Amino acid sequence: MAVRIENETFYLETENTLYQMKADCRGVLKHLWYGAKTGQDMEYLLEYPDVAFSGNPYDAGRDRTYSLDTMPLEYAAEGVGDFRLSAVTVRYEDGTSALDLRYESSRIVPGKYSIPGLPAVYADEDEAQTLEICLKDAVSGIRVILKYGVMPECDIITRSAVIENNGGHPVVIDRAHSLCLDIPYGQWEWVHFHGRHLKERTPERRPLFHGVQQSASGRGISSHHQNPTVLLCEEGCTETSGTCIGAALVYSGCFQTQIEYDQLNQTRLVMGSNSERFSWELAPGERFYTPEAVLSMTDAGFETLSHRFHRVIREHICRGKYKRMERPVLLNSWEAAYFDFDEEKLVEIARGAAELGVDMLVMDDGWFGHRDNDEAGLGDWYVNRFKLASGLESLVGRINAMGMDFGIWFEPEMISEDSDLFRAHSEWAIRIPGRDPVRGRYQLVLDISRADVRDYLFEAVSRILNSANIAYVKWDFNRSVSDWYSELLPADRQGEMPHRFVLGLYDLLERLTQAFPDVLFEGCCGGGGRFDAGILYYCPQIWCSDDTDAYERTQIQYGTSFFYPVSSVGSHVSAVPNHQTGRSIPIRSRSVTAMAGSFGYELDVNRLTEEEKEDVKAQIRAFKEYGPLIHNGKYYRLSNPFEEQYAVWEYVSADAGQILVQGMIFRTEPNSVRSLIRLRGLDPQKNYRLREDGSIYSAGALMNAGIPLPKAWGDYVPVEFYLEAIEE
Ligand code: GLA
Repeated sequence: MAVRIENETFYLETENTLYQMKADCRGVLKHLWYGAKTGQDMEYLLEYPDVAFSGNPYDAGRDRTYSLDTMPLEYAAEGVGDFRLSAVTVRYEDGTSALDLRYESSRIVPGKYSIPGLPAVYADEDEAQTLEICLKDAVSGIRVILKYGVMPECDIITRSAVIENNGGHPVVIDRAHSLCLDIPYGQWEWVHFHGRHLKERTPERRPLFHGVQQSASGRGISSHHQNPTVLLCEEGCTETSGTCIGAALVYSGCFQTQIEYDQLNQTRLVMGSNSERFSWELAPGERFYTPEAVLSMTDAGFETLSHRFHRVIREHICRGKYKRMERPVLLNSWEAAYFDFDEEKLVEIARGAAELGVDMLVMDDGWFGHRDNDEAGLGDWYVNRFKLASGLESLVGRINAMGMDFGIWFEPEMISEDSDLFRAHSEWAIRIPGRDPVRGRYQLVLDISRADVRDYLFEAVSRILNSANIAYVKWDFNRSVSDWYSELLPADRQGEMPHRFVLGLYDLLERLTQAFPDVLFEGCCGGGGRFDAGILYYCPQIWCSDDTDAYERTQIQYGTSFFYPVSSVGSHVSAVPNHQTGRSIPIRSRSVTAMAGSFGYELDVNRLTEEEKEDVKAQIRAFKEYGPLIHNGKYYRLSNPFEEQYAVWEYVSADAGQILVQGMIFRTEPNSVRSLIRLRGLDPQKNYRLREDGSIYSAGALMNAGIPLPKAWGDYVPVEFYLEAIEE
């Protein structure tokens, strides 16, 4: 049994971890442990002195050592004597905010819970168990139901909370986090992933300082700037050793991860929607559902944690036909043509691509409305007849006749002021009455919290998808959201808008992905500005970054790989000099880097030399062969491209029989000894044959001494080794 309850102590057990909490004699739900399996009740860890200025609940009587401000709590609430970060804050009609949560009941349910209107981990009944713990504030009647999804084989625990107003008056929720995790022991550091457009998910590791540290987004999207994932690790934790805890929020909007290192050197992590951009009115009888947070811990270093998140996201968050399927090798028209194309030009690009073995042509931005640049047209989802005179059906028919599939770009949540949609429905754009709106890339954002706006978008996108044989949609979003205001919400409920916006997005994505189950949806947000587990519930891949420079991509994809599986990473070979950096990198290095993802091209192949075209053919053949290993194998970060002169990574098949090592040496140094790269995850009993020259190495040699990196000449030298275990 994954979940056990003994004497009001809750044991959540996965293959390698134990999560423990206890409702004490006063009904306070204490957090006891999240770590390796200990085989015992961990309450002995909690012994506190009388800490002055940390008050005591009234019912603690004369016991001055019993304080909610010092002990580890499972879901900390505001206003009852815990002065640390709270997980939940409610405001009553009289302006007060106390919420004294005490244990009421619990139950174990087979399978994994789901969350109405929100993406969440799913599992078969025999893969997961759900624990529900109900806490209640006796005075207000508010209940908080904590949900835990326990997935033993995956070593994953998910969390979500439901807030229920069982009182007689409306209340306002000002903060409702998905996760609260107290760690009363250890010296912890945190790793978060920061960046900007063209530079997403740079890992940053810092020791905790006393007080609150946070990574968050208030941009309406999970953002390029911070990612809704976090690692806590003990000092000295590495890829392969040390204790670490990872958390990923299954949410695509304003989020907040906060860590408080308190007066007693204890750590509290809270994570959920961003309380700075959130409030929610809850009428009597109503419930509010928080998004889900996914948790894992290990004492075997970051790599093990990454493997767990890759698995749970790939197998238990991604859905649909393409979840396990090899994805098409596509050519995207953006960097090949930008806005400047017509039917003939696209057909020419497609013809060249078809000859080289590309599976799909994706027509990016510029095909609709009066869209000749980024100043106009968003919202007008009908074909631009100046560019595509014979319409979509004709173009798609010609592409299909070459044996290629066809994909198309949308940016549904946006509206240009210069568009027919804006002329008809300017009230659908998000803006504050009486103020000029903030523009981003000249565009405004549609209020998709409105059902009528979503209906319009559902119809508009469906009409296009039904009008031709379209196999793929790239779903873009190219600005941060500001000017939060919705015409349909009363003044005192405007704080609900950021969350309602995300609920609207999920509703629209759910309707469209259900209506078009054969279409592959790829998420995008100016590259990787909405790269999160929420989007992956609808779109099994996301364009990782608008930076297609392969050197930069080794770093961006390195950061992305801590939580997200390789199959989710949209990654393309683009032209040189690169359009974002001006850097020129050999085509083979560009391709091994792009293969660490759902692979494709972002250039006009007709402009390549004959030699480069042969290379592209070979790359596509290689990807067709290695794709299943790349996407289904275990992924190992063999170097840190921020610190070393090379980026090298490895894929290992489930039976450790096939090994693919790929990467890039950034710079050549004269008179230097070749660097050795140690492989991981091999079968220690086996020998391996290197495909390139037939030489044989033992697993012991490859893992303990390593394999020499290729002799480098020039910069950005590709690395590729394929090894197979030899059957003795
Ligand atoms: C965003 C995307 C790009 C491209 C452009 C089109 O920046 O990330 O890939 O689709 O929009 O305008």
